[in-house]
Amino acid sequence: MADMHDPLVLNGLRLRNRLVLPPVTTNFGTADGQVTDDILGFYERRARDVGMVVVEATAVRGDGRLVTRSLGIWDDAQQAGMARLAETIQARGAAATLQINHGGARCTPLGGEFQGASPSGFRFRPDVVPFVLDPGQIAQLVEDFVAAGVRARAAGFDAVEIHGAHLYLIGQFLSPLTNTREDRYGGDAAGRATFAVEIAQALRARLGADAPLLFRMNGVEEVAGGQTLEDAVIIAREMARAGVDAIDVSLSTLFVGSEVDGQRLLAASSALGKDRPAGAGVPHAAAIKRGSGLPVVAVGKLGEPQAARALGSGSADLVAIGRQLIADPDTAGKLLSGRAEEIVPCTECRQCFATIHRGLPMGCAVNGNPAGEPVFGGA
Ligand SMILES: Cc1cc2nc3c(=O)[nH]c(=O)nc-3n(C[C@H](O)[C@H](O)[C@H](O)COP(=O)(O)O)c2cc1C
Repeated sequence: MADMHDPLVLNGLRLRNRLVLPPVTTNFGTADGQVTDDILGFYERRARDVGMVVVEATAVRGDGRLVTRSLGIWDDAQQAGMARLAETIQARGAAATLQINHGGARCTPLGGEFQGASPSGFRFRPDVVPFVLDPGQIAQLVEDFVAAGVRARAAGFDAVEIHGAHLYLIGQFLSPLTNTREDRYGGDAAGRATFAVEIAQALRARLGADAPLLFRMNGVEEVAGGQTLEDAVIIAREMARAGVDAIDVSLSTLFVGSEVDGQRLLAASSALGKDRPAGAGVPHAAAIKRGSGLPVVAVGKLGEPQAARALGSGSADLVAIGRQLIADPDTAGKLLSGRAEEIVPCTECRQCFATIHRGLPMGCAVNGNPAGEPVFGGA
């Protein structure tokens, strides 16, 4: 049972407290995936109080970017900017973790050999035609994830988080809805976890035993035929065996979007809707913690008092605060110093999501300047 002020050691990495900035795609990078001043400003401002910053989904290949200005780590030329980012976060006292990702068939179409890469051809976007990966191509992607993780550590990141949540490429392998393969990469939950397991094992082998490694995955996919919590526990156990040190338990609330060429397209959201209670994801984190034996991060509208409850009840080891930290970058400091009443609240208007998915830099209706000193009152 922990308190939010307690430190935590993850495979030798000491986090000064239990609060985490989860990965939030800002669309503040350059068109070739490089770190910018706005990126540095966004993370510097939020690294001041939390124990760990997980930097947004960073592409392991140019053809796997989520948005037009996603960060990238597919090229050695991106390493210097990444080193500045890691240093900026660490200088504020937070551990720096890089989330590595490939968007698969949910990527923004920017061209490239693996644009639309998919386990079974499930379509997400009208403008991306999926193709089914063969085992040779899957092996290439495992190598791309490993090379990205190696670059992240070489750039000075304390830890690497593999992005298996929200129905991006790894998530598409994990979900029974989007993986109907009959080879060893499909089948039951353990079979569907094979791609993720191969990435984790290869990363562990290349980075060594002492490199902190996290895995982000969905607790539950809220759609008929989606991944269940029971499956999530099995997948988390497989990942524990593959060598990850902690599970970052996210959620995916899905809804059927539209139909194109007779195919139904899915839209997956990583955030609880306005009508859902704060902390609705905490029981998933608790179940995965129990089932896998690994420390877990919980997320989902966690603030006062749910963050303290999730830790105090032993349901979670760390709590992540997403949109609220976009709106008020001092949220963690205010929680830690007992000044919760001073937090400028997120209104859950989803402007942050809307802007990045329109190809714009992340905007916020509460804070007009997410990349620097907050300007409350909106853009
Ligand atoms: C604008 C935006 C971008 C996001 N980008 C990512 C991402 O790159 N990787 C990821 O794993 N989750 C991403 N998320 C999900 C968050 O990490 C978090 O799980 C979600 O916002 C729920 O937490 P909250 O209720 O505290 O906001 C994003 C969320 C938002 C609002």
